[in-house]
Amino acid sequence: MKAIRIHEFGGPEVLSIDDVEIPKPGKDEVLVKIHATSVNPVDWKIRAGLRKEKFPTNFPLTLGWDLSGVIEALGEKVGTFRKGDEVYGRPDITKNGTYAEYTVVKANTLCIKPIGIGHTEAAAVPLAGLTAWQALFDHGLLKEGQRVLIHAAAGGVGTYAVQFAKAKGAHVIGTASAHNVDFLKRLGADEVIDYNMDDFETALSDIDLVIDTIGGETQLKSLEVLKEGGRLITVLAPEYTAEAKAKKVHLIAFTAQSNAEQLKEIGKLIDNGKVKPIVETIYTLTDAKKAHIESEDGHTRGKIVLQVI
Ligand SMILES: NC(=O)c1ccc[n+]([C@@H]2O[C@H](COP(=O)([O-])OP(=O)(O)OC[C@H]3O[C@@H](n4cnc5c(N)ncnc54)[C@H](OP(=O)(O)O)[C@@H]3O)[C@@H](O)[C@H]2O)c1
Repeated sequence: MKAIRIHEFGGPEVLSIDDVEIPKPGKDEVLVKIHATSVNPVDWKIRAGLRKEKFPTNFPLTLGWDLSGVIEALGEKVGTFRKGDEVYGRPDITKNGTYAEYTVVKANTLCIKPIGIGHTEAAAVPLAGLTAWQALFDHGLLKEGQRVLIHAAAGGVGTYAVQFAKAKGAHVIGTASAHNVDFLKRLGADEVIDYNMDDFETALSDIDLVIDTIGGETQLKSLEVLKEGGRLITVLAPEYTAEAKAKKVHLIAFTAQSNAEQLKEIGKLIDNGKVKPIVETIYTLTDAKKAHIESEDGHTRGKIVLQVI
């Protein structure tokens, strides 16, 4: 089978199209024929060696940690799926990934994909969708009627966060550049702040929850807009813990985890029309280099998918 692997850290040029053996599932694993995978910033961060302390790397490494596909074979202890089931999931980031025609993954990281969408859209859901879900609900404790500020609202994580928060009944405010304002309002944002033109920290106050996918100054300024006791959830490093304490707000950093139960809940929202995966660009698997260059540019709307079949 074909797999896009790295044999060393480096720029997009280290992505190599390799012919490798189709892996065999262990006892609690399944072999999935991948129809589509998607690109997340962690893919190029790992490729560039920027995450080697967090996710120790064995070369060669297949990148990519999103999949939608069909179960081809099952380990002897797997009783939850059958051959031919259409599944989606976010496999373990410490193992070989999903830029490949097949992969083996723990069965408990997968669930049946939403029936109302194809594999291309389904592959755009797991990693970014689970990150948004866990940020808003597990760590952010978002409740109906609360005011939530979502940074990078037009991005992979942000487009899910906007839709999940809206479905929960929150008042949703996003930051984005001008060309994404109307798009985000159509997606469900009540207010959108053009971060190139306006200072969100002067425009906003009394916010219950901020989702930070930018870090740095954005994280620091976000502390200003929270009400006392509010929560700033970051998917990056928590840089301003002392300042958060002084402001009497919570600053919490987390790394999203695989969670098949939450993926089922997200699938229900997709199937009942409340959430739509936003797929900006579709490349073939062998065009992974182009996809990385585009993702690293930092202005993707929604997701980039790599179509395998
Ligand atoms: N800890 C975890 O578990 C975890 C999980 C997932 C992601 N992450 C991290 O979270 C970050 C975001 O991930 P992602 O997949 O959402 O990235 P992404 O899709 O690449 O984000 C692109 C978006 O960022 C927006 N953007 C760029 N600079 C901005 C700014 N200063 N203010 C507001 N929006 C801005 C762009 O909007 P415009 O084009 O309108 O500028 C674009 O739509 C990455 O660093 C990623 O590694 C962490």
